[in-house]
Amino acid sequence: MINTEIIPVNHIRDFADLLDPGRDIILCDSNTAEHCVAPLLKEVPQLRYISFEAGEQNKTLKTCEEVYSKLIAFGADRTSRLICVGGGVVCDMGAFIASTYMRGIDFISVPTSLLAMVDAAIGGKCGVDFMDYKNYIGFINNNVHLFLYLGFLSTLPQREWLNGRAEMLKHGLIASKSHYISLLENLKIAENKISLQLITDSIEIKNSFVVNDPYERGERKKLNFGHTIGHAIESAALAEGKALDHGLAVGVGMIAETYLSVLSNNLDKDIANSIYLNLENYNSEAVSQISDFNTLWTFMQKDKKNRNGKLMFTLLNDIGSAKHNCEVEEEQIRRAVEFIANG
Ligand SMILES: NC(=O)c1ccc[n+]([C@@H]2O[C@H](COP(=O)([O-])OP(=O)(O)OC[C@H]3O[C@@H](n4cnc5c(N)ncnc54)[C@H](O)[C@@H]3O)[C@@H](O)[C@H]2O)c1
Ligand SMILES: [Zn+2]
Repeated sequence: MINTEIIPVNHIRDFADLLDPGRDIILCDSNTAEHCVAPLLKEVPQLRYISFEAGEQNKTLKTCEEVYSKLIAFGADRTSRLICVGGGVVCDMGAFIASTYMRGIDFISVPTSLLAMVDAAIGGKCGVDFMDYKNYIGFINNNVHLFLYLGFLSTLPQREWLNGRAEMLKHGLIASKSHYISLLENLKIAENKISLQLITDSIEIKNSFVVNDPYERGERKKLNFGHTIGHAIESAALAEGKALDHGLAVGVGMIAETYLSVLSNNLDKDIANSIYLNLENYNSEAVSQISDFNTLWTFMQKDKKNRNGKLMFTLLNDIGSAKHNCEVEEEQIRRAVEFIANG
């Protein structure tokens, strides 16, 4: 497992200087093509790029096939390098494509959404969704380099800030009370501004789990807090053809799993109430998209963390402390889903 080297970039020109147009091919989606790659092309007009339609519904093997075909048309060989410029969808799928094309070519992650900067581009998980199951096809292959350019956040739509903050709050909830408090304070000042310090703090928390447990055999599972119920909600929405943002699904999933932490892990009720309040935006945004329990239950039974057919959750002990591999009764999960479905 390689520890990703994060290369901070202060200006689009400096980013352009790090590229090699002879070997590099950019992968982006329709939005990052316009907002992030177009300014880069002004600096390096000869850069080649491949773009696909933005959205989680396109994080599929079918899109991968289209990208492989375009790589072949560009004459990409084993010396080529894929530069993945985008949010979590581009970073996850781009890493998968680069790792499988010709049995693996180099790639660099250039996260452009807050969520990808603090989470998706860190830790080596790459892959695509399959039959509406989230990230079902993929593996772990770390990027060697990540270019971190905060300037890209200037065009990020408002709701994507909410999405990115969900994973940052998760980092605080499972591992650092001070990070959680700093995030809430920052939010009072501005909804769509964030300091480099908060971003690097989140990256450090994620990295600390990844480095100690790269293949998610133990402690790394804590990063899945909010994701068992969150992924089920996201998958159910995908199956109905109305993709729900990953960050929103995780936000509402964290509310449900905080509720479960009270039921099954003795989390203090007052602490849980304060967490619900701080996450309430996620519930109000997602509530209309929460499917009935039976549909979610079907997806939860396919969760990648299950062991011997049993559902395993990460639950909170306190703010900044979590426990993984918690087995929870179906009835308690049902109550947690009812809790979020009632807003
Ligand atoms: N590999 C991991 O460890 C990991 C961790 C967390 C999430 N993920 C995955 O990441 C994905 C979610 O990532 P996401 O929230 O970034 O979604 P996304 O990639 O769909 O990006 C969100 C939206 O913002 C747009 N966008 C991105 N950067 C922009 C910019 N600078 N300006 C304007 N628009 C921009 C995108 O085009 C898209 O429409 C999910 O597929 C999730 O499963 C992976
Ligand atoms: Zn996530």
